[in-house]
Amino acid sequence: MSDCERIRLDVNHMMADYLGAQYGVDPAAIDALAPYARAAHENVQRCRGTGMLGWMDLPHNQDGVLEKLEAVAARVRAQFDAFVVLGIGGSALGPIAVHQALSHLRYNELPAEKRGGPRLYVEDNIDPERMASLLDVIDLKKTCFNVITKSGATAETMSQYLIITELLKREVGDGWQKHVIATTDQARGNLIKLVQSEGLESFVIPASVGGRFSELCPVGLLAAAVCGIDIRMMLKGAAMMDEVCRNNGDVWTNPALLEAALQYTCMQDMDVNIQVMLPYADSLRAVADWFCQLWAESLGKNVTRRGMAVNVGQTPVKALGVTDQHSQLQLYTEGPYDKVITFLKVEKFRAETAIPHGCEEFPDVAFLGGKTHNQLIEAERQGTEYALYRAGRMNQTITLPQVNACTIGQLLYFFEMVTAYAGELLDIDAFNQPGVEESKLASFAVLGHEAEKFARKREEMAGRPAPREKYLL
Ligand code: PA5
Repeated sequence: MSDCERIRLDVNHMMADYLGAQYGVDPAAIDALAPYARAAHENVQRCRGTGMLGWMDLPHNQDGVLEKLEAVAARVRAQFDAFVVLGIGGSALGPIAVHQALSHLRYNELPAEKRGGPRLYVEDNIDPERMASLLDVIDLKKTCFNVITKSGATAETMSQYLIITELLKREVGDGWQKHVIATTDQARGNLIKLVQSEGLESFVIPASVGGRFSELCPVGLLAAAVCGIDIRMMLKGAAMMDEVCRNNGDVWTNPALLEAALQYTCMQDMDVNIQVMLPYADSLRAVADWFCQLWAESLGKNVTRRGMAVNVGQTPVKALGVTDQHSQLQLYTEGPYDKVITFLKVEKFRAETAIPHGCEEFPDVAFLGGKTHNQLIEAERQGTEYALYRAGRMNQTITLPQVNACTIGQLLYFFEMVTAYAGELLDIDAFNQPGVEESKLASFAVLGHEAEKFARKREEMAGRPAPREKYLL
């Protein structure tokens, strides 16, 4: 099936027996980890579909949901000029990543007939200038808003809901509800209550699917379908990756398990606590963003599942090839040995840009003539890979034969599996985010929320020492 080829993982440049004994991961360390990796695999598979592992079944259990998604998407495409996602974190990064990967790179700027669907905006911040600027470019009467929040309690998203519904009531009047689609938990939180009281169209985020693992449920699938992306093919790709991993507890042949074992070894044994996600394709730039949240929020933890104090995690960094060759690469080749570089390579781009002949008097320019940007970007990727190799820097490559719905489905599911396996190996809860809570509490306290816990937090914050003059410059 040529449109559904497998993505591949190449870890040669991670390994000591390729990169050099002092630099790479000793294969014996992976052998030693094999029983733990097998146990991690068995645990993840045993728990699939339960607890917070509902995302593992999303490629297989959404037939009814898909029909509704496609029907609603068709209505949105027919009726609206703009589709605005209101959400943050896991409710935004997936829709952005998939849209950038699978829609035209300048989708919003295309004329409507070429786009086929409404313009897409994903509003994942509350910068007041941003909301004002959005309102300058959309016509509320022709805009549909998809409010996405699993908890229904996220201040950023619910404040946007308040602003937008107030405006819609004023501008659209009766029937404003037809401009709002809610994606939320089936039973818990404020948004589901609003769905019921206002009669809003809605989609369910399954209870067992956490925000950053939710791209393959209606959180991501609705925006994708509205933009004309083949969501069934995305799920098919994810199912392919599930098939690759599902019945294989062997660390050397299950790619997600090997990747988790390698990164675990980097973190725990080698103090390699940074992973740079380096796509050599603009279309995959936001996939790096999505990965950063998945990896950081899932693995950055201070306690094991058994209650032991730890401080684990690997800092994900997003970069872009070739752009960051002229910005970050110097650090990656000569700075501290604290990073793994993960290349995302595309074998066949969806366009070919020929470089014409010219400037014959300048040999360094003239030699580019007759080649293509496709050749140049891959040559630069190979050049960077070689420079890293030569400098003894661990790197690995995930190759996508093409960027399409199938390979993106595979890639997202692959990283989710790697994260689940890595969480098992680290013995932490990869599906919670308690570290985010303190900032939330403190900001509600600052904003004057009257509830007791925020009042107490206000008091605690007031006890902070006054800033010292000498440090105010
Ligand atoms: O991964 C997560 O759980 C978080 O990043 C959430 O997606 C984010 O905090 C938004 O939460 P909610 O969907 O409840 O608004």
